[in-house]
Amino acid sequence: MPRPVCLVSGSSSGIGAAIVAEFAAQGCDIALHYNSGRERAEAIADQLRRQHGVEVRTIDADLSQTEAPFALVDRTFAHFGRLDVAISNSGVSNLLRDEQGKVVRYRFHETPIDHLDRELERVLSLNLVGAYRLAQRSLKHMLDQAQAELKAGGTPPHRSILFISSISDLAPDSTRIPYGVSKAGLNHVVLGAAFEGGPYNITVNALRPGVVDTPITTRPSGITNEETGEQYTVAEIYDLMALGGSQPIQRIGRPEEIAAAAYAFTHLPYMTGQLIAVDGGFTLVSGFPNRDLFFQEGLRRRRAGRA
Ligand SMILES: NC(=O)c1ccc[n+]([C@@H]2O[C@H](COP(=O)([O-])OP(=O)(O)OC[C@H]3O[C@@H](n4cnc5c(N)ncnc54)[C@H](OP(=O)(O)O)[C@@H]3O)[C@@H](O)[C@H]2O)c1
Repeated sequence: MPRPVCLVSGSSSGIGAAIVAEFAAQGCDIALHYNSGRERAEAIADQLRRQHGVEVRTIDADLSQTEAPFALVDRTFAHFGRLDVAISNSGVSNLLRDEQGKVVRYRFHETPIDHLDRELERVLSLNLVGAYRLAQRSLKHMLDQAQAELKAGGTPPHRSILFISSISDLAPDSTRIPYGVSKAGLNHVVLGAAFEGGPYNITVNALRPGVVDTPITTRPSGITNEETGEQYTVAEIYDLMALGGSQPIQRIGRPEEIAAAAYAFTHLPYMTGQLIAVDGGFTLVSGFPNRDLFFQEGLRRRRAGRA
């Protein structure tokens, strides 16, 4: 029995790197994709080969380019001769810098149109269109394999497509709408594709992480730590919020925790079309357990208003 083959886009960093480590540890051959991080990707690949004895093929592609997602899937299939799990993980957050290199964030109604156009193009071309195309071509290869197996009198094994979406698909932030739009769009792809894969034992789901400690969240938040004079990173801000009770599990997530969920969600043949949060409870409606905080803030504002 050949080893299952797993393709993970954006596996040169953060969550993607943890996912390929999890799948290699479980005995899968890996198509390890990178964009700018060639050295990081090669180092991860070497380590996985040494540790787990699986085959790891590194493949580069800028998935915001129209044909690149198709080429990535085709190259994976041409090399391994099969594809069992495809995980669309590559993504960028909603973030543009000005000429001084400072992060510029606008609220929805204030965003200048040229900024909005550039930001929509940058975020949607990778997070939505690139991911859409990667999944579309993966499903095509998986359907072809299943049909050939049926024709030969066999039963297709369970195969799976998973999007690493985000709780930002629903969690509102008026300075980050293009990112949320890209992830909300992916969720609809899941719903449609699930119907096509189901009859052939192919499941399609989205994993929606909460805040996870990766290079995406180690950038400056714009909020200064008064004790050090340095800016908190985004990860530090959300970790402090979690500690303060914003979510039931009072810390941000680790890439390995998302990777373990990704492995589980791609190995459940009876689960498809699902959009599942792995977020420490971030998206629970958490106002009521924190009522004391809100009560104190309400009092503070009322007093300030009266002063
Ligand atoms: N971290 C979080 O809190 C969090 C929360 C919810 C959802 N997510 C989602 O999780 C996914 C992974 O994020 P991460 O936190 O692990 O971030 P990360 O460490 O910055 O990794 C991003 C990955 O995307 C790849 N990438 C960037 N631009 C690309 C392009 N043009 N074409 C192809 N690949 C490209 C990068 O490749 P190179 O490094 O090789 O360029 C890298 O491997 C993203 O989809 C993100 O939206 C993250």
